[in-house]
Amino acid sequence: MNKLKLAVIFGGMSTEHDVSIVSGTSVIRKLDKEKYDIFAIYIDKEGYWYEYNPCEKQYKVGDNIDNIKNINNPIEYIRKMDCIFPVLHGLYGEDGSIQGLFELIKVPYVGCKVLASSISMDKVYTKIIFEKAGLNQAKYIYIRENNGKYIYVDDNFNETIYFLDEVCKIIEEKLKYPMFIKPSNSGSSVGINKVKDIQELEKAIDYAAKFDKKILIEEGINGREIECAVLGNEEVEASCIGEILSAEEFYSYDSKYNNNESVTVIPANMPKEISNKIKKLAIKAFKAVNGSGLSRVDFFIEKDTNKIIINEINTLPGFTNISMYPKLFEAVGINYSNLLDKMIELAIEGKVK
Ligand SMILES: Nc1ncnc2c1ncn2[C@@H]1O[C@H](COP(=O)(O)OP(=O)(O)O)[C@@H](O)[C@H]1O
Ligand SMILES: [Mg+2]
Repeated sequence: MNKLKLAVIFGGMSTEHDVSIVSGTSVIRKLDKEKYDIFAIYIDKEGYWYEYNPCEKQYKVGDNIDNIKNINNPIEYIRKMDCIFPVLHGLYGEDGSIQGLFELIKVPYVGCKVLASSISMDKVYTKIIFEKAGLNQAKYIYIRENNGKYIYVDDNFNETIYFLDEVCKIIEEKLKYPMFIKPSNSGSSVGINKVKDIQELEKAIDYAAKFDKKILIEEGINGREIECAVLGNEEVEASCIGEILSAEEFYSYDSKYNNNESVTVIPANMPKEISNKIKKLAIKAFKAVNGSGLSRVDFFIEKDTNKIIINEINTLPGFTNISMYPKLFEAVGINYSNLLDKMIELAIEGKVK
């Protein structure tokens, strides 16, 4: 049987480049070498493409990649593939940009298409779609930085320009502390801060603006952090539910990747009735953003009310060997390698005619 020519792309030009090295090299190690002829591609932070010669090394977040060689014509290189697996997180990799390139060269690829990727990468637009789908979420405000001032965008998309202190006063009137300030396009918690007063609010907005002009301000939820993985195109299945016990006050970059005390509980300890509800909501959210292939959908369960509140959807979640997505499916009997096979099958099945 001919092996499938599979390009696995990792690294990339986002703030999550280092995480993607760990995810990408894990995927490469776990892929069935009997089934796939693997072409491993590393993209550096500037956007240059390289062939990576796989080795057994287990990378850690922060490690540099080795064993690489220039690719002169990336488009011609990937055009020859039967399928592409982008194991990229964040801007240019998870936001529809590279998915657009794959559409242009007509090679099937793993995961969400252009629209679902770009909606899901943008926290403000994800909120707008989730609202339309009737999903519970944290109260929020959307502002945009513009030459040192801030455009406040109201519920009807009317815009008013303010100075930072003015816009913060408006935010205080509308939302309760603590609040979470997030660059709209962010991942791995980069650029995100939790704030408890107006001084922190001003600082956090200024900081978030360094990552994206669009900024989302959310009311904090006091809840358990819950995640659910989904897999499928039209027929979508959900994994079991996992819980994050963050070592720090919230699940920041450090507590995700550098703090061993952050742990995941799989399956999460909760009544079946609630986990079934969460699974249904995860599939609903995935459908609402027009998802295909896979996603990880993240929720809170509010401590006082037990209300299920959606936080976000990740179209290319972490794939390190300790990541939630593969572990959630492993817990329901689909091991990492089989999960990769399924994702590749879905890519080929879902190829746009
Ligand atoms: N509204 C909120 N209430 C409580 N905690 C939040 C809220 N928003 C974010 N967090 C915390 O910040 C973390 C990162 O935020 P998130 O929106 O998931 O961004 P990212 O895409 O970077 O993962 C979450 O895992 C959670 O710990
Ligand atoms: Mg998150």
